[in-house]
Amino acid sequence: MRIVLLGAPGSGKGTQSQLLLKAFLIPQISTGDLLREAVAKRTELGLKAKSAMDLGKLVDDETVLGMIRERLSRPDAAAGFILDGFPRNIPQAEALQTMLCALGRPLQAVVLLNLDLGILFKRLSGRRICEKCGRVFNIYTAAPAALAHCDECGPEHKLIQRPDDKEEVIAKRLDVYEAQTKPLVAYYTAAGLLRVVDADADVNAVFNNIQKAIA
Ligand code: AP5
Repeated sequence: MRIVLLGAPGSGKGTQSQLLLKAFLIPQISTGDLLREAVAKRTELGLKAKSAMDLGKLVDDETVLGMIRERLSRPDAAAGFILDGFPRNIPQAEALQTMLCALGRPLQAVVLLNLDLGILFKRLSGRRICEKCGRVFNIYTAAPAALAHCDECGPEHKLIQRPDDKEEVIAKRLDVYEAQTKPLVAYYTAAGLLRVVDADADVNAVFNNIQKAIA
């Protein structure tokens, strides 16, 4: 299976990718996660990307495409992949198409997780992440037993907020989505690949609807 999960920040791409990778045993390729890893390791790429990420802007296409090209060439991606947060604009989508055609492995579906702006804002501002295992919580919708820490890793590991989940940055990210990423809806509709899923439901219901959409 070779799919893209498309959707605004906070629409549930990361959450659903985790369920899909367990169900289909194919890798989740998240450009956001790859970039955050580079930032944490303070690599040259990470230091370059950080300023754009902190402001809620897109990282430049050349950097992101280089990362994706390398990731798709690894053996585990041969059996399929879930692209999470990529592509993010029309040039990235065109470059992806060229890359996958050259590999003889075109996309099979693009799933749009559809959600109202007000809910997106709440999901992002309420998101908390375990600093140890990376498990994602939400103080509004999926609170851990004790809000101060991950209920699996224990009290010595805090739940942290992503720097770009601060309210002022969320607003910028949502603007960037409208201006640069939303045109992909028309692009993938024209390509006959788009499947729209209502993301305003509980996590398992959304997952069932994604499975139906890609069946
Ligand atoms: P990235 O990490 O890709 O962030 P994003 O697209 O903004 O998406 P999020 O990770 O914020 O949200 P999500 O849709 O995965 O939602 P989640 O499942 O966590 O990108 C970060 C930055 O990196 C970008 O701003 C940019 O700078 C850069 N970047 C990344 N890719 C790039 C690219 N291709 N080109 C250029 N720059 C790039 O859920 C959110 C919350 O909601 C969680 O708390 C979760 O528990 C909760 N939740 C999820 N589903 C449900 C549900 N069904 N019901 C209730 N709560 C739910």
